[in-house]
Amino acid sequence: MQNDNATGAGETSGDFRDWRLDVDLEGIAWAVFDREGESANSLGRRPLEELAGIVERVEAGARDGSIVGLVIMSGKEKGFIVGADIREFGDFNTEGQVIAALRPVNDMLDRIEKMSVPVVAAIHGVCVGGGFELVLACHYRIATRDDATRVGFPEVKLGIFPGFNGTVRSIRQAGPVAAMGAMLKGSMIRASVAKAQGFIDQLVESKGQLRWAARKAVLQKRKSKPKGGFMGLLAKWPARGFLAGKMRDETKKKVREDHYPAPFRLIDLFEAHGGSYADMKREETKAFAPLMVSDTSRNLRRVFFLSEALKAQAPKGMAWKPLRVHVIGAGTMGADIAGWCVASGMEVTLQDLSAEQIAKGIKAQGKLFKKKFRTPALRAAAESRLIADPQGRGVSRADVVIEAIVEKLEVKQALFKDLETKMKPDALMATNTSSLKIEDIAGPLADPGRLIGIHFFNPVAQMPLVEVVRGEKSRQSEVDKGAQFVTAIDKFPLVVKSVPGFLVNRVLAPYMMGAMARVDAGESKEKIDEAARTFGMPMGPIELADTVGLDVCAHVGQILGLGNEVSGAGKLVASGKLGKKTGQGYYVWEDGKPVKSEDVRFGNGDLEKLGKELVEPLISEAERAVADGVVENADLADAGVIFGTGFAPFRGGPLHYKESVVGSDKKEAAMADSQDAGNVGAARTPVAAAGAVASAAGSGAASAAAAAAAAAKKASG
Ligand code: NAI
Repeated sequence: MQNDNATGAGETSGDFRDWRLDVDLEGIAWAVFDREGESANSLGRRPLEELAGIVERVEAGARDGSIVGLVIMSGKEKGFIVGADIREFGDFNTEGQVIAALRPVNDMLDRIEKMSVPVVAAIHGVCVGGGFELVLACHYRIATRDDATRVGFPEVKLGIFPGFNGTVRSIRQAGPVAAMGAMLKGSMIRASVAKAQGFIDQLVESKGQLRWAARKAVLQKRKSKPKGGFMGLLAKWPARGFLAGKMRDETKKKVREDHYPAPFRLIDLFEAHGGSYADMKREETKAFAPLMVSDTSRNLRRVFFLSEALKAQAPKGMAWKPLRVHVIGAGTMGADIAGWCVASGMEVTLQDLSAEQIAKGIKAQGKLFKKKFRTPALRAAAESRLIADPQGRGVSRADVVIEAIVEKLEVKQALFKDLETKMKPDALMATNTSSLKIEDIAGPLADPGRLIGIHFFNPVAQMPLVEVVRGEKSRQSEVDKGAQFVTAIDKFPLVVKSVPGFLVNRVLAPYMMGAMARVDAGESKEKIDEAARTFGMPMGPIELADTVGLDVCAHVGQILGLGNEVSGAGKLVASGKLGKKTGQGYYVWEDGKPVKSEDVRFGNGDLEKLGKELVEPLISEAERAVADGVVENADLADAGVIFGTGFAPFRGGPLHYKESVVGSDKKEAAMADSQDAGNVGAARTPVAAAGAVASAAGSGAASAAAAAAAAAKKASG
């Protein structure tokens, strides 16, 4: 911990574990949040109680004149406050419990707001969720312009919205357009943008200037000026009704209300009460509580914990750190793998038989770099880290060598045999194969224990999951390195056994084949796709098959022994109709979109029933995969299926879903049987039920999962 006391030693309180309170010689109280034993600051019960203690002390000091102001800061090197402590959310089973827990927090924030001396938030690093709500209750907000400093409300992606009166304070502060936009999108806002929107009052160039600026703000009694005038008028009726309507339309384009109700309840809240600060404040709590105890929110929180479980597969404190990567094969996968590693800060050499292919592959990364890096200097730095290497000179310097060449066993075997003599002894040796066995490729090696699979999904930049494949002989140290590498490039690793299809394609294939078989049997493809979306899949299985390519599907089917059962798809492939890439498959594709028959309408009950039937093969296969030890446990299977296929995040994963369905069936039976059914309603599906099984899989369809994961990730820092 560093000394954050700005102007020398005054009085320091040792009463707190998660905060430090120093009152300096000028009478400024510096409350420094440094949560004990944690790498990031989250607002759990104890830090909130301690903050209440600090508020009391400052109030007393303000009364007797010994304190002239309060500054709230973070004692962590990197982040400010990542939000409320998600780990404690599970403690709430009833709306009453939620309301009771919120009351003292909101009372405390009111006291901060009403403090007679200036309260200044000095922000460096991520300040989101409950942390952002806390600073909105302060009188003045200063932030570093640093790229790492972001504010925002990711709550909606955890199935809730701000509950520490952040809804009403953000609207008052920045006006309804910016505030509702921030809450509905859940995105992370850069400090400079937040300043322009009115959330932040002042920017400083560096962390070092923060304390001095905060001191000045206190001594000059600076007070934020909330957006008034036109922006304020928008919160008045009828502009509010019009805005709410537009927000509802926009939100409907992105999510379904029955799957993700939180943004819709937030819009309702704004529409009904956005004209009155006091009303909206009161009603926020009432509208928040049911969301917090909903299954949707529980499951989205589960997705967050699952993402943590995936990351935890990389052992902590490994000395081995991947910095240089050599990729062989600059085709569809290799070029994008290389680009992604560069975007994650690594230096990459890219090899291919064809120099043109390398040049093409490198050029194609421009789009990713443009998205990832804001300034031309950063983009230029990224470009210089991606090196064309037709001779393979990078092999001997690389920490990781990834092969993504043609899917032919003998060619891969020969390549690795050669690589084995050239690679650094501790460098990781990996293949991106999707259908060959790791042990077969490693067969001719002097040290076959060295090879693992690192199986990326297409498109690389969008898919959050990467399977780390353990061959029969792969050494644990190499699997660990694989998980470490995948985490280092900001993807989620899933350690899987070397079996056909690994986990993701293994569970996805029967789901897609099942859907294709239904089309063969005369069922409408539009209905099937609509039913899958009604269940919560990001894309229907027929559209997905067309997107992946029917030839690729047939190949995967063959690997898994499902190949010949689907005659319709076989005929399409034979006639060159491979899906999106050829402009026709099951659908005709125009402007990158499938043309769907508009005049067919299906009953919702019908779609729900069909949707559940469609995912059954996926769930059964996931159960078998867990039973076969393809992944270590059911939670990891759920995680892999959510992040690898986009399986309805709000359902918490296929195995969890199955268990909750079985659980609720049992519950209904129990209620029917029991005279005393009154207590049953309080029981909830446990978050991580041991022994469950399941799964699904895909390619390019995981953006919903990616969004959920990213949001969860941000919410937790
Ligand atoms: P691709 O055909 O697009 O690219 C392969 C590249 O490797 C070509 O540019 C080719 O010139 C080059 N190449 C072939 N032999 C080589 C050698 N001996 N040395 C250097 N370069 C060589 O193939 P794609 O689709 O990128 O697949 C590559 C690997 O990734 C395969 O093992 C495939 O199973 C796997 N994979 C493919 C996925 C996909 O969606 N395309 C998804 C996941 C894995």
